[in-house]
Amino acid sequence: MAKRRRRRWRHRSNAPPLGVLPALAAALLLLLLVVTAPVDAAGAAGVQRHLERMNKPGVRSIESADGDIIDCVPRHKQRALDHPLLANHTVQTPPSHMPASLLVRQQSTKSATARAWQTWHHAGHCPRGTVAVRRTTAADVLRARSLALFGRKDAKQQRTRRRRPMPPDVVTGNGHEHAIAYTSSPEGVYGARATISVWSPAIEEANGFSLSQLWILSGSFNGSDLNSIEAGWQSFMVYCIPVLRVDQAVFFSGRQVSPELYGDSRPRLFTYWTSDAYEATGCYNALCPGFVQTSSRIAIGASISPVSSVGGPQYDMTLLVWKDPKLGNWWLSYGEGAGGLVGYWPAELFTHLSDHANMVEWGGEVVNTHPDGAHTATQMGSGHFASEGFGRAAYFRNLEIVDADNSLSAVPLDAIQTLAEDAGCYDIRKAYDGGWGAHFYYGGPGHNSASCP
Ligand SMILES: *[C@@H]1O[C@H](CO)[C@@H](O)[C@H](O)[C@H]1NC(C)=O
Ligand SMILES: *[C@@H]1O[C@H](CO)[C@@H](O)[C@H](O)[C@H]1NC(C)=O
Repeated sequence: MAKRRRRRWRHRSNAPPLGVLPALAAALLLLLLVVTAPVDAAGAAGVQRHLERMNKPGVRSIESADGDIIDCVPRHKQRALDHPLLANHTVQTPPSHMPASLLVRQQSTKSATARAWQTWHHAGHCPRGTVAVRRTTAADVLRARSLALFGRKDAKQQRTRRRRPMPPDVVTGNGHEHAIAYTSSPEGVYGARATISVWSPAIEEANGFSLSQLWILSGSFNGSDLNSIEAGWQSFMVYCIPVLRVDQAVFFSGRQVSPELYGDSRPRLFTYWTSDAYEATGCYNALCPGFVQTSSRIAIGASISPVSSVGGPQYDMTLLVWKDPKLGNWWLSYGEGAGGLVGYWPAELFTHLSDHANMVEWGGEVVNTHPDGAHTATQMGSGHFASEGFGRAAYFRNLEIVDADNSLSAVPLDAIQTLAEDAGCYDIRKAYDGGWGAHFYYGGPGHNSASCP
């Protein structure tokens, strides 16, 4: 059955030339409105209201070449502060001390890598006192709704899985699959850092996604009190096609639309958090409030470029999450140094993480939307297996954790364990060298005739 679906996809990918698109879209719109009307007028108005709540007016708006709009929102009017727990919250200034690395890095033996950055920076900057916010679109809202049904991080399944003697990981089940490295520390973990290569993995299905991220975890894996802070890059398939602009309140859902035509698998910076094992709290980016942004330069949800290519240049980005020892907020930085501070998850949001974390994970996660049939060909990382190594497989390098004294320490290789639930689809290999410290390659193509039916 899934095979049939795949064939239909291929058929649709015989794409008409781009010039035909507007006419085709209009025809499709009429057809869908008449025949199926998947999002009716009331639904569209609901989405419109939701968008108005989410998108705070900016003092300036920047149109990025990738189609995103970045609004420069006054810092104290950002959406995060709508969270009920943050009713009396004052936006913090960055802590005076970022965790420092005690390690003097050796020159890497790998060929040079370069930094990936945010695409919209080519189009302008936000003024001081504002935060750069990617404007949420109707497609984002509809995708989030479908993820709530499809890709839900299902706590019940998680508990079921926990009965098996398996290494920790947060969200197996319901099609979620991982290739991750993890470490834990009895003394507690106060943050983590890694440099992550950036790719644009192919996503086979609408509703599918592919993430490369780090997790900072605390609480028990068997209960409903798991606290998780997550950040990384994600690629996803757009779920619907906004045919007309949102302010005209007309859209339709585009199930089964060829990704070649409408897909957007550009990698985007994301943040996520939950304080109750994914049951009631937690969501991506600014779709629900919580993560307080301080940066006027880095927008959550904005696309990252350039991306790495197989056999070509490798682009990577450094993420650091750490707990401010004074106020207890968990800060995120993207890139090097204080200029890369993005914002923080306020201490008020969490239970266990208000103290410290007990585990860190790094790696990839995909949603396979056919968990009971043939595996999807959604890629993780570069879409190549770990064994293919530098230049072909995606990597995380220089794995470090933050200690109680707010310093970074390199994680010894033997303190890192790895997990790949279905290594025929996606796998992981850890290694060590002087320049890259503890690092790993990970990923894979998903469906393939040799090892992932
Ligand atoms: C905010 O402050 C008001 C007035 O002091 C108080 O009643 C309320 O509980 C506070 N809310 C939170 C979330 O701390
Ligand atoms: C969860 O696991 C911990 C030990 O790891 C145990 O003490 C606790 O009773 C367990 N809780 C549940 C609800 O099973």
